Amino acid sequence: MELDVDGTKCGGYAVCSELAPEVFDLDDFGFAVAKSGEVAPGAEGNALEALRQCPAQAIRRLG
Ligand code: F3S
Repeated sequence: MELDVDGTKCGGYAVCSELAPEVFDLDDFGFAVAKSGEVAPGAEGNALEALRQCPAQAIRRLG
């Protein structure tokens, strides 16, 4: 599974990095970045929960 953060939508709510810290980091300005495009199998549940709960709907599933 591959995820990406749309930087034009991210509002820095940090729900993603709290729910899936193994997948998402925050940059120096508090906006999310995906640590790597490919999500490790064991982290997929947390990653999908972050996708669902991002208030800005900024997380996209690429594959
Ligand atoms: Fe941004 Fe959504 Fe995370 S707004 S910081 S991608 S919870």
